[in-house]
Amino acid sequence: MTAPMPLTLRVNGERVDADVLPRTNLADFLREHLQLTGTHVGCEHGVCGACTVRVNDEIVRACLMLAVQAHGTSVQTIEGLSDSGEIVDLQEAFRARNALQCGYCTPGMLMAAQDLLKQRIAPSREEIRGHLSGNYCRCTGYHAIVDAIEATADARRRSAR
Ligand code: FES
Ligand code: FES
Repeated sequence: MTAPMPLTLRVNGERVDADVLPRTNLADFLREHLQLTGTHVGCEHGVCGACTVRVNDEIVRACLMLAVQAHGTSVQTIEGLSDSGEIVDLQEAFRARNALQCGYCTPGMLMAAQDLLKQRIAPSREEIRGHLSGNYCRCTGYHAIVDAIEATADARRRSAR
C-alpha cells in the first residue's frame, strides 16, 4: 500500500493529525513532518539508540516503529522532556560532567537515563551501564555519562528526603 494513511496521536501533549505513508517510520515522521529534530537518526536499524523516544511512557526506538503504529498513542520526544523541565537536572549533570561532546547520542542517552531513574532511585553503575547498553556514544567513552546519571540519582534522593 502506498497511499497516505490518516494518523492521530499526541506528541508532547499536543494532538497531531497527519496523513503519512505506511512505510514512514516514527523517527522520520517526528523529524520531517513535525520538525522535532532532537530525535536523532544514526543506524536506522535499532542498534544505536539515537532515536529513542517515549510511546505511552515506554522508551522505544523510533526507527523501528512505523508512524502509523503510533496511531492513538502519546509520544514524548526529547523536546517534550526538555520543555517540561523533567530532566533539567540530568541535562545540567551531563553538561557539568562533560557527558556530551558532539551531542549526537545525547537525546537518546537522556531519554534512556531518565527511563532508568524513574524506575530505580539508586541504580548501581553496573545497572546504569546495563540500561544504556543499547545507546552508543562515539565520543565520551561512557564513563562521564555514567557519572552524570549517578550524580543525578544521588541529588534526586537527597532532595526527596
Ligand atoms: S537510529 Fe534508531 S536505533 Fe539507531
Ligand atoms: S557525544 Fe558524540 S556520540 Fe556521544
